[in-house]
Amino acid sequence: MTAHDLSERMAAICARAPVIPVLVIEDARDAAPLARALVAGGLPVIEVTLRTPAALQAIRAMAGVEGAVVGAGTLLGGADVAAAQAAGAMFGVSPGATDGLLDAGIAAGMPLLCGTATPSEAMRLLERGFGVAKFFPAVANGGPGVLKAWAGPLPQMRFCPTGGIGAANAGDWLALPNVMCVGGSWVAPRQAVAAGDWDGITRLAREAAALRRD
Ligand code: 3PG
Repeated sequence: MTAHDLSERMAAICARAPVIPVLVIEDARDAAPLARALVAGGLPVIEVTLRTPAALQAIRAMAGVEGAVVGAGTLLGGADVAAAQAAGAMFGVSPGATDGLLDAGIAAGMPLLCGTATPSEAMRLLERGFGVAKFFPAVANGGPGVLKAWAGPLPQMRFCPTGGIGAANAGDWLALPNVMCVGGSWVAPRQAVAAGDWDGITRLAREAAALRRD
């Protein structure tokens, strides 16, 4: 599969919902009920960051939840791609992009959402055949005005901004023509997960799923 094909698959995943919940899971037993809560609220695309010992087990558990499209985040290289794929991840997210990561994703046939913070990084991904990227860290890098400016010279590149986005500002990003969806942790607050407040998380997911992409 070519990078372009994988990029189209990533775009199709990004088109499924306006928000990708970004999860840091401490206890793999929370994974399945959390995924069910998010899917019930209308957010089927879920990123589990590989930042905790429980992450791969959580991906395994979530991959079995009906309707969930589970990806692995914080992929830093080829070994992470292999581990994520073995756990059942259907896509991968990274804070950046290295040749090693891109090559591993292409070899594994895993759609990737790689991080960009400058036009040169976006151009490099385009050169490699990737037309969809994460914009990270979105708010700290300057906010929606940056991607609005990039849409002029780089109209073919589409983004999933992530980092510092919440219910109050997600709409500003989603209004941009080059934004497909946003990522964020706000829909699954750690306290709510620890308390097993799945109904509360479904409510947050429902609000996020109702955000418009104009
Ligand atoms: C992260 O780094 O964990 C993601 O970018 C999510 O960021 P957020 O917690 O600001 O939504």
